[in-house]
Amino acid sequence: MKSLVFRIAALLVAAIVFVVILSTVAAFFVLRPPISEDFSRVEARKLELLATLVERDRTAAISAGAVIRPQPNDGEADTEFSTVMSESLKRIGSSRSSSVVRGDESWTAIVSLQLADGNWLIAPLRGLGPPPGEWKRLLTWLALIIVGSAFIAVFAATKITRPLQLIENAMADVGADGMFAHIPETGNRELRATAQALNRLSTRLRAATESRMRLVAAAGHDLRTPMTRMRLRAEFIEDDAERGKWFADLEELDSIADSAIRLVREEVGASKPEKLRLDTAVGKIISEVSALDLKVKQGSLETITVYADPLALTRALRNLIINAATHGEAAMVTVERQAGKALVRIEDSGPGVPPDLLGQIFEPFFRIDIARRKAIPGAGLGLAIAKEIIERFNGGITVRNRVARGLEVVVALPEASDDAP
Ligand SMILES: Nc1ncnc2c1ncn2[C@@H]1O[C@H](COP(=O)(O)OP(=O)(O)OP(=O)(O)O)[C@@H](O)[C@H]1O
Ligand SMILES: [Mg+2]
Repeated sequence: MKSLVFRIAALLVAAIVFVVILSTVAAFFVLRPPISEDFSRVEARKLELLATLVERDRTAAISAGAVIRPQPNDGEADTEFSTVMSESLKRIGSSRSSSVVRGDESWTAIVSLQLADGNWLIAPLRGLGPPPGEWKRLLTWLALIIVGSAFIAVFAATKITRPLQLIENAMADVGADGMFAHIPETGNRELRATAQALNRLSTRLRAATESRMRLVAAAGHDLRTPMTRMRLRAEFIEDDAERGKWFADLEELDSIADSAIRLVREEVGASKPEKLRLDTAVGKIISEVSALDLKVKQGSLETITVYADPLALTRALRNLIINAATHGEAAMVTVERQAGKALVRIEDSGPGVPPDLLGQIFEPFFRIDIARRKAIPGAGLGLAIAKEIIERFNGGITVRNRVARGLEVVVALPEASDDAP
């Protein structure tokens, strides 16, 4: 309810209703409604009749409550009503002089009508305001204004916030690659400008990502030639221990260059997804990793099919399981089904990841601390590659530190339906 649309709409409704209430109050209490001719003619006829009766039997009229004075009633003249009254008197054929002054209360007046003997008949008049029950109509009128203005306000607020809505939709649409689909550049000027700006941003982002990827690939590729030369030269080192160190370093460099090229391939490469048994694939990776003398335990593996490229998926899961077995000391892997998703849960009993760094571990070349880096060689690309692959198959990876100790990595993939290709 705190949305911008709601706030703008509420502001517009409040402004409209406030102005209407203010003008209504002013109309009723400050300005008197115009006196109708019909009303004035009826009153003129009544007063003329009364004046004639008073002239016939003055004593009886006074005892019945008629007020007769030698002068017209004092007070603030009501010029509008005076004119209407004298015209009405003329119209009914009366030639009497008349004067009207304002009464003590609102919507009352006092009419003075001259008698044949020069005295004045004084008659108060009521009912110049709205008839009784008019408040109900007034309330209905206000209710209609509130409903009407609410409709207009919601419509106007929605229109005003369209560019913001456009940005919100575009951001919600951002895919795994950080891009969003082209936004149609139509509508009013602001809307078109917003759509154009977002499209420009998307194009620039795409260009920047592509150039970054090209750079990584080129660096990985170009490292190969000097590394081959270094390997050749290392062959001539006589000291066996020294030569061994050189080869180990060169191997690490090789694997970094390899990973960099692989990451670029995963980002831009085409894959051939097919239906595959996730539990079987995970089982195979576990035996493969165990064969490398790493500690990996197989938990329960539920039978689940997913839709993915077998080679790429194996690469992604292998990276995660090796991480758990190396950085995390010992891995435990399970496959289960949850709310239509296939989950691969990889838990370990290592040191976990400092909470403030959890958000960065998927970034390329990110590794946690130098002390650990020495002990466990790697480029810091395994998680970036795994994320790239999993998201390509509409899945997601979440990481969290376990309560006791270690890290829990969960890969969620949509379960393949029976009618999937
Ligand atoms: N299970 C884990 N437990 C603790 N830290 C982890 C775990 N998995 C990853 N990390 C941390 O995240 C960093 C990035 O992992 P990533 O797999 O991307 O790179 P890497 O394992 O260092 O190198 P490689 O490119 O060979 O995989 C690691 O260096 C490590 O510090
Ligand atoms: Mg790794």
